[in-house]
Amino acid sequence: MVVGQIDRSFETGFGRYELQRFPINKKETLKAWDAADEYLLRHLAENDLLEENTTLLIINDGFGGLSIPLGRYRPAVMIDSYLSMQSILMNAQKNNIDEMLMTLGNSLELPEQITGEKVDIVLIKLPKSLAMLADQLHRIRPVLDSSTVIVAAGMTKNIHMSTMAMFEKIIGKTKTSHARKKARLVFSDFDDGLTAGENPYPDSFTLPYKLDDIDIEISNHAAVFSQDRLDIGARFFIENLPVSDRYRTIVDLGCGNGILGLMAAIKNPAARLIFTDESYMAVESAISNFVSIFDDTREAEFLQTDCLQGVERDSVSLILCNPPFHQNHAITDNIAWQMFSESRDVLEPDGELWVVANRHLAYHAKLKQIFGHCEVVASNKKFVIYKVTKKSR
Ligand SMILES: C[S@@+](CC[C@H](N)C(=O)[O-])C[C@H]1O[C@@H](n2cnc3c(N)ncnc32)[C@H](O)[C@@H]1O
Repeated sequence: MVVGQIDRSFETGFGRYELQRFPINKKETLKAWDAADEYLLRHLAENDLLEENTTLLIINDGFGGLSIPLGRYRPAVMIDSYLSMQSILMNAQKNNIDEMLMTLGNSLELPEQITGEKVDIVLIKLPKSLAMLADQLHRIRPVLDSSTVIVAAGMTKNIHMSTMAMFEKIIGKTKTSHARKKARLVFSDFDDGLTAGENPYPDSFTLPYKLDDIDIEISNHAAVFSQDRLDIGARFFIENLPVSDRYRTIVDLGCGNGILGLMAAIKNPAARLIFTDESYMAVESAISNFVSIFDDTREAEFLQTDCLQGVERDSVSLILCNPPFHQNHAITDNIAWQMFSESRDVLEPDGELWVVANRHLAYHAKLKQIFGHCEVVASNKKFVIYKVTKKSR
């Protein structure tokens, strides 16, 4: 343990590794692994489950807590998050693990496209949403057989009856371990005879708005924020979206299914749109929704990235943001803070950042600190919409 600094040294049954979260934050207070990673690795080591030629699939590794210690087994890794992917690549380099030994795939690839064969062991870090778990269990079914060992891990507070029921419904008989440091393992036995049904994702809902008198359908992959309905904060934002000829480039920052950018594009017909999100499924949903509304009549750019990385400095007229307050399962305002600071960099002089947020989140103070002022443009009992402008130098 290093005093005054976050502990980066991860001791496992597979060796000791230095792990850090991406993006690197000098004031980081969170480790790059959790008790569920520790428990899972301990279970694998104590039961001697891995051999040289084991085909290993790892799903939702957070920051390399599983892929790095298990790197020598040439794992296939399925990941939705850009930050997780970058963490794994960064930690592989720091620990002299040849990243070429791993096969990194995104959350929409089918596991056999990544592994190329049946899998001996599947390790799953339980995702935040039940929808994402359902999607992932449906996706892995084709690479399972009755000899596949399937172990999931998560913090006890995030493992519910509904989690167990989802495994039982899609994979087969399922049980949990006892708790260790507030984490649990979930063991599921593949049942070949089970009728698991079709993967219901992506699914869609109809917006309470029309375009040229036609309903607008919004399609969502499983990991997308508010995947089954319009978020009430987003709805309040849409009702107050700004319209101006000055907006030449509009960014939907943390776009999810792209709903804010889509509505802004409809209201500002001359603007060019940029959508960014760190989730692969979010960006793919935003692309599909944009194409379904505008086909090839409008120009847009879609970036799976960290906040605004990849967007040119001083180039954007308007940024719309409904900031996240979670990273994986942890509640944090670090990302909102990063989004606001980077907005200042990419906005052109007199460019505007509009933010919708729950009243109880103290974003007003943050925005004022970064931009020197902050205006409330609308508010209701639950939400506030803030506007800040980048002052000309
Ligand atoms: C509260 S949701 C808003 C989604 C959508 N804009 C809406 O209003 O329905 C926040 C979004 O930020 C994304 N996000 C989280 N961390 C991010 C990061 N570091 N860079 C880019 N997007 C991020 C999440 O994946 C999520 O889609």
